[in-house]
Amino acid sequence: MENHRLVLPEHLNQYGFLFGGYLLMWVDEVAWMAASLEFRDCHFVTVGMKAVAFHKSVKQGSILRFETELIHCGNTSVTYAVSVLNDETEIFSNSVTLVRINEEGEKQSLPKR
Ligand SMILES: CC(C)(COP(=O)(O)OP(=O)(O)OC[C@H]1O[C@@H](n2cnc3c(N)ncnc32)[C@H](O)[C@@H]1OP(=O)(O)O)[C@@H](O)C(=O)NCCC(=O)NCCS
Repeated sequence: MENHRLVLPEHLNQYGFLFGGYLLMWVDEVAWMAASLEFRDCHFVTVGMKAVAFHKSVKQGSILRFETELIHCGNTSVTYAVSVLNDETEIFSNSVTLVRINEEGEKQSLPKR
C-alpha cells in the first residue's frame, strides 16, 4: 500500500525540521490502515515497532511517500514493513506489529486466509 503526507509548519521541531514523533505516528497509522484494509472484519492495535533511528532530516513542504508491505502473519499478529521516502531517498524504515483484538480488547486469532 502507498500513502503520501505533506510536511506542514505544525509538524516541525524547534530547529525547523520534521519532529520525529509525527513521523512515528504516520508510520503507525499507515500500518494500521494496511492491516485494516487487508483483514476487513478485524480490529487491530499496535503492540510493537522495531528499534527507531532517524538518520535524515526532513524539511517543511516535503511530500513523504509511505510504502507498506505485509511481511509476517502470525496467530494473532501481523507485521508490516514501512518505508518512508522523500524524493526517492529512503529517510526512515521500520516494522510495525499489530494484534487483532476483540471487543473486550483481548487478543484474538486471525481469520484463516
Ligand atoms: C495487544 C495486546 C492485546 C496483546 O496481548 P499480550 O498478552 O501482550 O500478547 P502476547 O504477548 O501474547 O503477543 C500477542 C502477539 O503479539 C506479538 N508481540 C507481542 N509483543 C511484541 C513486540 N514487542 N513486537 C512484535 N510482536 C509482538 C506476539 O509475538 C504474538 O504474536 P502471534 O500471536 O501472532 O504469535 C496487549 O499487549 C495490549 O492491549 N496492548 C496495548 C495495545 C495498545 O493500546 N496500543 C496502542 C499504543 S498505547
